[in-house]
Amino acid sequence: MGRRNKITVVGAGNVGATAAHWIASKELGDVVLVDIQEGIPQGKALDLAQAAPVEGYDVHLTGTNGYEETKNSDVVIITAGLPRKPGMSRDDLLKTNADIVSKVTEEIAKRSPEAILIVVSNPLDAMCQVALKRSGFPKHRVIGMAGVLDSARMRCFLAEALDVSVENVTAFVLGGHGDTMVPLPRYSTCAGIPVTELLPKDQLDAIVKRTANGGAEIVGLLKSGSAYYAPSAGAVEMAEAILKDKKKILPCAAYLEGEYGINNLYVGVPCKLGARGLEQIIEINLMAEERIALQKSAASVQELVNVLGI
Ligand code: LAC
Repeated sequence: MGRRNKITVVGAGNVGATAAHWIASKELGDVVLVDIQEGIPQGKALDLAQAAPVEGYDVHLTGTNGYEETKNSDVVIITAGLPRKPGMSRDDLLKTNADIVSKVTEEIAKRSPEAILIVVSNPLDAMCQVALKRSGFPKHRVIGMAGVLDSARMRCFLAEALDVSVENVTAFVLGGHGDTMVPLPRYSTCAGIPVTELLPKDQLDAIVKRTANGGAEIVGLLKSGSAYYAPSAGAVEMAEAILKDKKKILPCAAYLEGEYGINNLYVGVPCKLGARGLEQIIEINLMAEERIALQKSAASVQELVNVLGI
C-alpha cells in the first residue's frame, strides 16, 4: 500500500482553513487541521471532506484540538496566532504570537521530528526564528512564507498595469515581510523582458509602494482580520514544491548565515525548495542602494528578534 503525504495545518482560521482547501483541491495529501477552538477544526475538516465528492479529491481531512493526529507529518504549515486589526502593524503581534508559535512548534517537533515546517504566522521573520529555536530542527527544515505572497501581489499589480496574463509576470521581492521589504523591479519580468523596459519609473515606484503596503491594504478593506486567500496559496505553493521535490525557486524567509552579508537571521531571499526543504539559497548581485535597503530590512527583523531575546 502506498502512503499518502501527510500535511498538518496548525490554526483553523481563515489562512489555515483556506490552506487546507488548496491542499485538498490539489490532492497534495491527507490534511490534519489543528486549532485550540473546540469544534472549529473538526467542523471545517468535515465540511471540506463533504466537498470532496463534488470536487473529486481523494484525501482524508481530520480536524482536532490536539496533536496526536499530527504524528509523522511530512510538512507542517503553522498559521496559528492572532491576525492584524486595522491600524496594527505586524510587529504589534510580536509577543502574543511568539508564545503561540513556541507552544505549537514544541508540540509538532515532538511528534513529527522529520517534518519540514512552513511558518506563516506574523510577524513572519521573527516567528520563523522562534520556530527554528523551539524545534531544534536544522535550518533547511524551517522556512517562512512571505516572499511568495509579496511577489504574488507585485505580479498581480504588474499584470494589471501591463494588461497581460499574470502567468507572464515574475516578480522579485527581498527582505523581511514588513514595510521595509525590498521589491526589485529590475529582476521582475514580463515574458522574460525586465519590467523596467516596459513601464515608466513613476508607475513602477507606485507598484513597489503598493506591494510593500499590500497586507495593510487588505486589512483596511476587511476591517476585521487580514488577507488569507493569497497567503494560504503561497504556503501551499511552497508545500507542493517540497512534497513533489520540484526544486522550485521561490522567495522565502530563510535563516541566513553569511549570505547577503546577513548573519543568524531570517530574511526573505530566493530559495530552491525540494524534498529536503530549503535546498539552496540563491545569491544575486545587488546594486548599492538595493543592498542598503536589504540591510535596513534585516535590521528591522533583528530588532524584533532582540525584543524576544532569542
Ligand atoms: C499580509 C499579512 C497577513 O501580508 O501579513 O497580508
